[in-house]
Amino acid sequence: MISKSTIDKVFDSARIEEVVEDFVALKQRGVNKIGLCPFHNEKTPSFTVSTAKGIYKCFGCGVGGNAVKFVMEHEKYSYPEALRYLAQKYNIEIEEDQYSEEDSKIRSERESQYVVLTHAQKYFSDILMNNEEGKAIGLSYFKERGYTEETIEQFQLGYGLDTWDAFTKDALEKGYQLEYLEKTGLTIVKEDKHYDRFRGRVMFPIHNFSGKVIGFGGRVLKKDVKAAKYVNSPESEVYEKRRVLYGIYYAKKDIIAQDNCYLVEGYTDVVTLYQSGIKNVVSSSGTSLTVDQIRLVKRITNNITILYDGDPAGIKASFRGIDLILQEGLNVRIVLFPEGEDPDSYAMKVSTKELHDFLEENAKDFIAFKTSILLEEASSDPVRKSALIRDILESVAVIPDAISRSTFLHECGRTMDISEQILVAELNKIRRKNTNQMRRQAGDYRQEPVEIPINEYKSGFPAESENVYDKGVSISIEPQERDVMRFLLNFGDVRIDMEVKEAGSEKASKGGGDITVEQFIVNELTNDGLEFEIEVYSKIFKEYEEAVKSKNTLDQQYFLKHRDPEIAELCVDLVFSPYSLSKNWEERHQIHVSTEEMTLRKAVERTVYSLKMSKVKRMIAENREKIKASEDENVRTDLLKQYGGLLEAKKFISKVLGRVVN
Ligand code: CTP
Ligand code: MN
Repeated sequence: MISKSTIDKVFDSARIEEVVEDFVALKQRGVNKIGLCPFHNEKTPSFTVSTAKGIYKCFGCGVGGNAVKFVMEHEKYSYPEALRYLAQKYNIEIEEDQYSEEDSKIRSERESQYVVLTHAQKYFSDILMNNEEGKAIGLSYFKERGYTEETIEQFQLGYGLDTWDAFTKDALEKGYQLEYLEKTGLTIVKEDKHYDRFRGRVMFPIHNFSGKVIGFGGRVLKKDVKAAKYVNSPESEVYEKRRVLYGIYYAKKDIIAQDNCYLVEGYTDVVTLYQSGIKNVVSSSGTSLTVDQIRLVKRITNNITILYDGDPAGIKASFRGIDLILQEGLNVRIVLFPEGEDPDSYAMKVSTKELHDFLEENAKDFIAFKTSILLEEASSDPVRKSALIRDILESVAVIPDAISRSTFLHECGRTMDISEQILVAELNKIRRKNTNQMRRQAGDYRQEPVEIPINEYKSGFPAESENVYDKGVSISIEPQERDVMRFLLNFGDVRIDMEVKEAGSEKASKGGGDITVEQFIVNELTNDGLEFEIEVYSKIFKEYEEAVKSKNTLDQQYFLKHRDPEIAELCVDLVFSPYSLSKNWEERHQIHVSTEEMTLRKAVERTVYSLKMSKVKRMIAENREKIKASEDENVRTDLLKQYGGLLEAKKFISKVLGRVVN
């Protein structure tokens, strides 16, 4: 674990504008800086960075947070990864808390593998660009294929010399350990002899999600040799093939921005499409698509478009992939390339615009795709047609979401010209079969509930429960809680004069005199035993409570840079919220002019008492229901007594509110 003091240093050093500007061009606009949001597509900038507050917020898509959050979101890093990134940027040395021996062994094992893999990548790239053989054979091969130098550099392509052990020898001389060269598969050890795995091949390094090199694919150059077209790194501790998609590191930003991921078969398809401007592209690299790979994509989008060769093998492979993607709850579309073309060859042939248009125009959902493949031969043959329908239904059956299923059923009925009722019955059979199969495997013999036909959805969902008691409880007081939070965060440390003489109230001026807004709010709410219902508000309030108890003041910065990302994010929202008090307030609140102070005092009171009012109203509603329901006379008397108390409280709150409405 990264030590607390390192985390503090990172949070203290990271300047939001410097962190953001590594990825987004910003312009000064008043006290803030603005730019085009990297998290959604926009033409006019709504991405706002407050250098003073150390936070960012997009008014287009709503994202916001501090510097650490930005790095997490933008680079899709975990919290520790983001901290490491920033530590590196600001030259902060990372201290680690004590690891268990087991932990540190695993860690250093993996680290050591990354180290040799990174070295190998640099070595192969260097050979490609600077070595005679590398240039003559490797570089000219890539150039012949149409790769630009920029592409070659971006994808860190390389070349492995056509000798037995040039790489290994060099690496050992430089002090890299044979153990890790072997474990990463770069070196093959046989009876005390060492061989390079990649000999006379152009090299495609494979990166993980956060950009570390974890393996290689090496393509043979000579067309006639019997050797396999590709030699790939074997599985290792850092390279688990089923969890890796080639290109994901380069594609992730564009996948997020386009909210779609193109899936292709090979390394060259990825590189060529990327170079042609289709950057949201990854490849399963020859292995059949796995659930883990789909989940990797699911972290950043719910939409996958499969691009496959038009050959029968390609089509068959896509069928399996389609069901797997549907099963994970993602949307899938398919583009089939003309006979004899794959994405790589096609992209090299046409212009960027033509490629874009082709992909747009030819992306089909799975029903249209399967139908177009199979219907031609099937339409005249009833047996084949029903086999096709069953095939489509098998796909529909694995979609987890019921509403999506019925939408697709509807489409299927329309394209296949068959009654939806029949399809529903058929789908139910398949789903029952599937789940029973799954359950039997799990030793469970219940039956799956049946599908509701789409017509029944149309008539609306079942009416909500008419239980008034439930209704009373469900009155949301989130807006009131939110308002109080807003005051705490924006004005918590501002002092106000609470010397209020309210006739007939013993509570109105607790603390009296000059207190901070946070002291006032904490006192008011804790004295009434009120708690926040929204969990994150409650967490924040507890911190204020603690602070007030120990006579500390918490300022906005403390929460904006909170270690709990959920808290930090919420606070960014509240601070940037268009509903917070007018800007003037924020600028003026340091100056203690009595009239403004008066207004702030009233606003705070109004907010606190509005929350109390909502709570009391709800308690009254609940109490009334309980009275109606109670049969025991004693219980009833107690409830009535409470009822009276609540009405009193309500009257008092109304009075305070009446005084502070303006
Ligand atoms: N593949 C592999 N081993 C092989 C053949 C293929 O690992 N012997 C994987 C590679 O990841 C390759 C993908 O399958 O990228 C697709 O194969 P193919 O289309 O044959 O190769 P391309 O990379 O497309 O190469 P090229 O365009 O030069 O034919
Ligand atoms: Mn290919």
